Amino acid sequence: MRRAIKFLLLLLTGLAALAFAGHQVLEQTTNGWFDRDLQLRSQLAVSAASRSLVRNWQESARLTAVLEDLTSDERILGAAACNLEGEVQAATAAYPRELGIRDLIQANGGPLSGPEPAKATWSTTTALGSGRVHISGSTIDGEAGPLGFVVLVHDLTFVARREATTRSLMLWGFFVLAIGASVVTLAAARIAWRGWVRELRKALTDDATTADTSTGDFQPLVRDVRSLAERLARERHDDAGTGPWSANRLRKTLLQHLQGERVVILANREPYIHERTDQGIRVLHPASGLVTALEPVMKACSGTWVAHGAGSADRETVDAHDRLRVPPGEESYLVRRVWLTEAEEAGYYYGFANEGLWPLCHLAHQRPSFRAEDWQQYVRVNQRFADAVCEEVDSDDPIILVQDYHFALAPRMIRARLPRATILTFWHIPWPSAERLGICPWREEIIAGLLGSSILGFHTRQHCNHFIDSVDAYVESRIDREQQAVVQGAHRTLIRPYPISIEWPVHWLARVPPVAECRAAIRRQLGLAPDALLGVGIDRLDYTKGIEERLAAVDRLLADRPEFRGRFTFVQLAAPSRTKIPRYRELNEQVEAQAVAINQRWGTESWRPIALLRSHHEPLSVFAHYRAADLCYVSSLHDGMNLVAKEFVAARDDEQGVLVLSQFTGAARDLTEALIVNPYDLQQASAALAAALRMPVDEQKERMRSMRRIVAEFNVYRWAGRMLIDATDLRRRERMHGRLSGPVLGETA
Ligand code: F6P
Repeated sequence: MRRAIKFLLLLLTGLAALAFAGHQVLEQTTNGWFDRDLQLRSQLAVSAASRSLVRNWQESARLTAVLEDLTSDERILGAAACNLEGEVQAATAAYPRELGIRDLIQANGGPLSGPEPAKATWSTTTALGSGRVHISGSTIDGEAGPLGFVVLVHDLTFVARREATTRSLMLWGFFVLAIGASVVTLAAARIAWRGWVRELRKALTDDATTADTSTGDFQPLVRDVRSLAERLARERHDDAGTGPWSANRLRKTLLQHLQGERVVILANREPYIHERTDQGIRVLHPASGLVTALEPVMKACSGTWVAHGAGSADRETVDAHDRLRVPPGEESYLVRRVWLTEAEEAGYYYGFANEGLWPLCHLAHQRPSFRAEDWQQYVRVNQRFADAVCEEVDSDDPIILVQDYHFALAPRMIRARLPRATILTFWHIPWPSAERLGICPWREEIIAGLLGSSILGFHTRQHCNHFIDSVDAYVESRIDREQQAVVQGAHRTLIRPYPISIEWPVHWLARVPPVAECRAAIRRQLGLAPDALLGVGIDRLDYTKGIEERLAAVDRLLADRPEFRGRFTFVQLAAPSRTKIPRYRELNEQVEAQAVAINQRWGTESWRPIALLRSHHEPLSVFAHYRAADLCYVSSLHDGMNLVAKEFVAARDDEQGVLVLSQFTGAARDLTEALIVNPYDLQQASAALAAALRMPVDEQKERMRSMRRIVAEFNVYRWAGRMLIDATDLRRRERMHGRLSGPVLGETA
């Protein structure tokens, strides 16, 4: 816009200069035209009257009458007849005698009686009084030769009048032109601006996985920065005056909007697993982003977490109703364990959920397997969990949070038993395009199951759009695109993006030593020199995490940049996961073999580039590694959010350490100060690792500070709080429209 205004000023100055120059040229040209025109008119008038003039030349009175006839044109001021010497013989009454016609004749061709032949006609302009006059002389020839001249004096004030009119017309013309040009320029600038904004908006909603990342300098995508800024602005506006989200604020929100209801969470993975070991029963915290996010919410809200009891000592630690109070030592909520048979677990969890839906939803080049027997188990287990949830509620309009792809059918099953329930379902992984979803033979059932929810949340708007497209393609319903909702009869499901996050501050960090201690301790544990450069990766061993690409990037770094050989080690904490599935076992072996190969290629007696720690790590150890590292590389090939990236940022209260982050994670949209890379592009990824290891401390601090602000603000309490507030609004609207009976939630019954 600023450019358009500059252009406009330039244009106006140009037009003014043009107007001035134009005026000069126009004046000269029109003067020339008038001069020629008057001379011609004079000749014509004189030649038309020449016979009368000749006839009456000697008769002064008659000659004067002929001359008066000649001046009938209002622009002819006067006329005179002069003899060959230039003496006036006869003249009209208005003829200005002060003209000094002799001199003029002399100056314009000389007297007819002179030695040189005089000009037959001549003309000139001269000042007269306050104006100017045009004087023309024409020779009058008698039978015996020239008799004398007829002089016509034209009044030129009309020329000045016309000039003034022309000038003002011209100025108006230029003025109108200038206004027109300004309007056109501003309109063009506006259209261009709108076009740009439209393009930008389009880019913002496009597929992250098809984004142009050819910049190659690890910059965040423009749309990510912009959508983050928009989200910040929108949410700041909504939250004005209420302060940052915290456990306390979430608790208050629940109390205010939902009458302090107990929340029931349904999630396959339990927050505490009891395992039998040689030393007795051990409590484990699973490596799960879902658990990381939901535990703090449950601690804040209390209530019950319904989950699969998967630990070998789980049955021994529950009460007669399969319940257990957690967290150990600071009990604030309940876990209700549901027991599955081996066949149920094989079909529902390993089969349909993790060999079917998981590869269907992740673009990681693994074919989904859909088997009818797995589907039957999935339906059966969903019903069992839905029943368990209904046993845990203590009202007919409870708040139920259904989590993830394990329970696509449960929302509809719960709604069938509890029509007034507020069901918030969150899909923790990406939602595929409608076309890709078509691979699933039970796609209609999956969608219908999810539409039992009051609100269905995804990490990104892109996944919401994919879901709405899927509804459009496969089920009967009305899509309210303005409200981002799907309507089936009296029931409405809002489809919303709620980017998940972690608690802030992370409670584990209170028990983790400061950065300097962690740096020294972890280097000691790994057998590294105190000043060794250290990179860290922390994941479940899953093919979507891009662990092979990550190790290949380290390999490439060492190949291309010898200065890091002997100095840099990458430690990969890899928690074995879903090992009953062949593809996961295969991955285990491949990663192991790859680490061995890289260590053989570059390692020395005293140094190995890759430390692969394939075992479960408890949160305290995980956070100590985050603190010890110079960089953390998250290289997912496709990831709904990825909370490892956010945990690394939370761990770095020293504001140092560099995050290298895959562009295919939801987190890349929020953490724009990370070095954003395409993990498939090994040259780019290894360059990013090198840039991270060489990054000056000041720059590290600047980037880390900015990311910490984002994670602190967009924490998991906000995630849960906003979902709960939206659910309350939805129920209020439903009641007002009479679609639901009973009092409006948040209001006194
Ligand atoms: O990302 C999907 C998810 O269910 C997460 O919510 C969780 O972090 C992870 O998978 C755990 O997988 P599993 O429960 O199969 O070990």
